[in-house]
Amino acid sequence: SAYETILVERRGRVALLTLNRPKALNALNARLMEELVGAAEELDRDPDTGCLVITGSERAFAAGADITEMAPRTSVEMYLRDWFSAWDRLGRLRTPTIAAVAGHALGGGCELAMLCDLLIAADTARFGQPEVKLGVIPGIGGSQRLTRAVGKAKAMDLCLTGRTMDATEAERAGLVSRIVPAADLLTEALAAAEAIARLSAPAAMMAKEAVNTAFETTLAEGVHFERRLFHSVFAFADQKEGMAAFVEKREPEFRNE
Ligand code: HXC
Repeated sequence: SAYETILVERRGRVALLTLNRPKALNALNARLMEELVGAAEELDRDPDTGCLVITGSERAFAAGADITEMAPRTSVEMYLRDWFSAWDRLGRLRTPTIAAVAGHALGGGCELAMLCDLLIAADTARFGQPEVKLGVIPGIGGSQRLTRAVGKAKAMDLCLTGRTMDATEAERAGLVSRIVPAADLLTEALAAAEAIARLSAPAAMMAKEAVNTAFETTLAEGVHFERRLFHSVFAFADQKEGMAAFVEKREPEFRNE
């Protein structure tokens, strides 16, 4: 692999991206940010990619942005370099993305998981936005995405006290899509990814776009947008194939067209 901080592995139409700074609990330094976002964008542009899985180690998905790297920075440096803005590009990927989270997902680690479309958690996962304990606040969208995911009550609790929540609490609150035993995390995440990668890629992308639009707009505008997408999928050959396969009681063969 050409990367220093991540591992990239292809499994058919699924790509697995593993954060690989185990000694620092996958703390997200600038190098990791650039490598992960760059690799994800490259895979996103490749028509042979149907789903991305981002994972960490057993101990930590990621314990946050790299504190040693950030500690000496000045405000004007952070502003001029537009620190963390590269992460925004991850939220603009069109390919469905799964975060497979075990262990610590704190600060930037929790924010990275929230940038993904599905969040599958091991029963060992712990989520939090402890930045306030360091004298700072979330900087990769945590105060916004966490609040939209779990509501004001829990978002305030996590952002103001810096406490963590376990996988059960996170699932109950609506942050997590599924919880699985830690030993099955990768198997489950890859199985979900393979199922997504077998779908019609344009239909899956549109489903993702439609759900994400719910975060950006009013209900009437969102339903209108969904309806227009819905009408347009009838132009896809995959719509004909998907529905014909159902009627003929066979598996569809999507061609992404
Ligand atoms: C740099 C980190 C790190 C981090 C852990 N390490 N988290 N290095 N940045 N965010 C390093 C430790 O320094 C240590 O290195 C090694 O990883 C193992 O960590 P330990 O603390 O020894 O492990 P443990 O006792 O198991 O505790 C795990 C932990 C703790 C509870 C996750 O590491 C922790 O609290 N980390 C910081 C969590 C945090 O505050 N995250 C938010 C960061 S700010 P050595 O070399 O000693 O072995 C952020 C938001 C950005 O993410 C926006 C603000 C601008």
